[in-house]
Formats: sequence, C-alpha cells, structure tokens
Amino acid sequence: MTGTHRPAPGLGRDPVGSPAHGPVDSPVHGPVGSPAHGPVDSPVHGPVGSPAHGPVGRPVHGPVDLPGRGPDAAGNPPCHGSGGPAPDARASRTPVVELRNVVKEYAGGVRALDGVHLTVEEGELLGIVGPSGSGKSTLLHIVGTLDRPTTGTVAIAGHDIAALADRKLSALRARHIGFVFQAFHLAPGVTAVDNVAEGLLYSGLPRARRRALAAEALARVGLADRARHRPHELSGGQKQRVAIARAIVGQPDLLLADEPTGALDTASGEAVVELLHSLNREGATIAVITHDTEIAQRLPRRVRIRDGRVVADSARGKAVVR
Ligand SMILES: Nc1ncnc2c1ncn2[C@@H]1O[C@H](COP(=O)(O)OP(=O)(O)OP(=O)(O)O)[C@@H](O)[C@H]1O
Ligand SMILES: [Mg+2]
Repeated sequence: MTGTHRPAPGLGRDPVGSPAHGPVDSPVHGPVGSPAHGPVDSPVHGPVGSPAHGPVGRPVHGPVDLPGRGPDAAGNPPCHGSGGPAPDARASRTPVVELRNVVKEYAGGVRALDGVHLTVEEGELLGIVGPSGSGKSTLLHIVGTLDRPTTGTVAIAGHDIAALADRKLSALRARHIGFVFQAFHLAPGVTAVDNVAEGLLYSGLPRARRRALAAEALARVGLADRARHRPHELSGGQKQRVAIARAIVGQPDLLLADEPTGALDTASGEAVVELLHSLNREGATIAVITHDTEIAQRLPRRVRIRDGRVVADSARGKAVVR
C-alpha cells in the first residue's frame, strides 16, 4: 500500500512535547485554529475511503520518505490500506494501534494511565468511555502520538514510536492520524473550504489541488453548499462537520475524536455521530471518546477506562479483570 499526498520531509516541525501540542482538549491549531501550528489535522493517509480517492487507491502526490506503512524494522510487510478486510485477513494485518502496558505519569505523580493494553484493528469504530479524570484524553493523546508514554510501547501502523525522533513522529502523525475536538478549532474568518484545505497544508500539494480535495471532503460531510461560509456563519453541528472534513481530507489511517458531540445539541450531535458511522462504513478506523451513553451503546466496540486502566473491552467480549 502506498501512501497519498504525503507530507514533505522535514515538515514534522512540531516535536512532541512542544508547546504547540497542548492537552488533547486544548486548541492545537494556534490562534486562528490553523493546523499550521502543528501536524494535528495535517495530511494523513489511509483507509478513510472517500468516493474521490477510494478506500484503497490513494494517489501519490508527494515525497515518500516519511514513516509509512512499508516494512518495519523487523521486516514486517506493509499491511494497510484496504477498506475493510475480511475478518480472517484482518487477523494477519498490523494493527492501526497497538499499546502494550502503557503507563503515563504526569509531573506531580499523577498516574493518568496505569498499564493500558489496547489494540485497534483497521476498520474498527470504537468508543472510549469512562468517568471524568479516568484517563480518556490522556489515552487519546498517547494514541495520537501527541505525547509519549512514561513506560510501555506504542505502535502506530506498525511503527514503534519510541524508535522515532520527534520530527519523524510528527511526520507519522501527519500522515496517519486525524483529530477532531469538542471545540472544533476552526480558523475564524476563514471559509469552510480553506479550513478543510489546511488539513493538507503539509501534503506538498499545490493550493488549487488542496482546495479541490477540501471541496470533496466538504461534500462528503454534506456541506458542499457551505464551502464559502466562515465559521461564524455555520451552526455548531456544521462547524464540527467542517472539522471532521479537515481531519479526513488527507485520508488518515485513524480518526481520533475527543467528545465530538460535547458542544452540540442532540440533533446536531446525532448528525455528527451518523457521519462517523458512515465514514466507518466506508473504511475509516475511528476512536471516539464520549460521555454519552446512548452514543456509546451504538458503537460496535466500547473500551471502558477507570483510574487509568482498561476495565472492560467489548471487543474482548468480557470485562478485563485486573
Ligand atoms: N498535563 C497534565 N498534568 C498533570 N496531570 C494531568 C495532566 N493532564 C491530565 N492530568 C490528570 O490525569 C488524569 C486523567 O486526565 P484526562 O484528561 O485523561 O481524563 P479524562 O478521562 O479525559 O477526563 P474528562 O472526561 O473530564 O475529559 C486526571 O487525574 C488529570 O487531572
Ligand atoms: Mg477528557
């Protein structure tokens, strides 16, 4: 599987731990919500299959010497890119996410994650649920490679992030992961299509192409007729759909959403949830943090976190006893 419009080398200029990476719930796009301030929402590539690109066929637009899905250090073959492999085929594929015994301690001795094992396979749609302070956002932060674990291992698309220097890690993030946040983080005063196009800022694509792809992504989220609107001319639900379009425009392997409906009324939240389901049906691998039990109930897999531990995982069919 080859990647598409990959970010240019050296674009990972936002090392993990830099101020540009605030907490997962914090703005990460800088003063105007622009991904120019970090690789979050920058071009990412994977089986988020848009009609324009297809879940498999990802046109190659740019340099290709960034971490991708080629053979890893252990010689494992590239293994991603199909949109929804058969279950038995999937078993032999490298997971999109693989966390092993991940511990995250913050300064002051807070152990936000306490030995998390989590595997996410291509094509999954999972919810991360748990009480406030249980470690959900920290987990998303780690899975999104916005932060590194204190101990334990994290592999994204087969790449052990401990083996990657910050610039390479930023490039991997840019290529593989899209983010959606509760507060949208759109650039004010910038049209919807240009907000979405910013998701391709590091793709190496010419501006016209970025905007064309952005228009396609907006159409995917049902907002083709709002392309010229600025955020203040959009409803909350529409803003979140623009943010989702920005996150998926580069076709990430993994879409991470932290309370994407948290700021929305029920109907708008419902539309966003339906959009996530729809993207998943098209091949996207999605992890969504939610407090909403109704939303969680409808997700095919639920991972429950408490006190920094996975205490239940419906994919395993039983509670995890620790
Ligand atoms: N940057 C930080 N420094 C120190 N402690 C932190 C930091 N970020 C989070 N924590 C602590 O880690 C724990 C887990 O926080 P986290 O934000 O992951 O919880 P959460 O499950 O996302 O909660 P919520 O549902 O309220 O968003 C909490 O006890 C929190 O106070
Ligand atoms: Mg949180």
